[in-house]
Amino acid sequence: MATEEHKRLADTVKGIHALLRTECQKYGPEVAWRRHLARNDVLQEYAASMQKLAVKCWASNNADLQTRTYCRMEWIKAQCKQYFLHGGKEKYDKREKDINAKIIFSSAKSSCEEQTSHEDESRYSKIGMQDFSERRISVLDVGSCYNPLSTDDAFNVTAIDLIPTEDGVHQCDFLNVAVAKEIILSQNTREIRQLPMDFFDSVVFSLFLEYLPCPEQRYISCKKAYDVLKSGGILIIVSPDSKHVGANARLMKSWRYALSQMGFMRIKYEKLRHLHCLAFRKCVRKDVAVRWSQLQHFSEADRKYISVTKIFIPQDFQAADLSKEKRECIEYEKTDLAGTFSELPFNNETLT
Ligand SMILES: C[S@@+](CC[C@H](N)C(=O)[O-])C[C@H]1O[C@@H](n2cnc3c(N)ncnc32)[C@H](O)[C@@H]1O
Repeated sequence: MATEEHKRLADTVKGIHALLRTECQKYGPEVAWRRHLARNDVLQEYAASMQKLAVKCWASNNADLQTRTYCRMEWIKAQCKQYFLHGGKEKYDKREKDINAKIIFSSAKSSCEEQTSHEDESRYSKIGMQDFSERRISVLDVGSCYNPLSTDDAFNVTAIDLIPTEDGVHQCDFLNVAVAKEIILSQNTREIRQLPMDFFDSVVFSLFLEYLPCPEQRYISCKKAYDVLKSGGILIIVSPDSKHVGANARLMKSWRYALSQMGFMRIKYEKLRHLHCLAFRKCVRKDVAVRWSQLQHFSEADRKYISVTKIFIPQDFQAADLSKEKRECIEYEKTDLAGTFSELPFNNETLT
């Protein structure tokens, strides 16, 4: 059973999400986001509540690691290790080269383009020779909150959040931070003012995209992840959904479409009980990633979700009806918020 304190903390978190989404509808995403960032006390309360929820879960749910909060962090760590330490990367280097060869063959390329493919060959092999026994996997954990990945020695984690709750977490608004040649920190090193491009082995979005109230903001975040990743690096997305695997399959396909157009190849998808878990590789050659999207055919029903500049979540479609009817608003409160936090460290009873 969820304790009273769990309920109170969960209500705080849920209320802040609801406020942000409501304001986004009312004022538009930019103004709503600015208003949100200006409420320092609210952000502090959110961060403290999230941290307490997580820490309490870790303390009290050790017997049930596979189905609760640990699950998403363990999944993320396992995917990174499989990819970088146990041959996953080499496998997809090869797959990418094979697809590239098909593209070149089918379009009967000129000798000039064949030259390009030789140049790429050297890029693949250079990346493949990286030795992770001598260095750690560099991870940018976006919306890290309490830095849950930092406990594993395999990773060199750069943790960022709007409001850091741990010493190792840097203050940074990923939506608005600049991406350029090198990292720039504030003088006291607590804030990241600029992120380096082509730098990280992995970027992690764990329960992050749903925080952002509009589809364009989620797209901007994915594009930024693309920019800070090295070629061959991976974006890991964990997103809450307690429904069965087919219920939001169209949305999952629309993510794959938008990210494929951006230059990402989906290399892993798993539906856990309350979560979608995905890994996308930043392809060395963008056209290899784009090829998947070019081969797709979409039904009329699919098209509603397909966009090259938006990443939708179920709440976007529920939210559109919010202002119309209170009944739907209540329904939204139940599904959106319960969905968003069903994997968090309190019993589902809290949310019904
Ligand atoms: C639901 S929590 C997820 C925490 C953690 N990643 C986990 O899986 O438990 C979402 C976090 O994203 C952070 N966040 C939201 N928008 C952000 C942004 N633009 N830049 C950095 N962090 C952001 C919030 O402050 C919050 O701590």
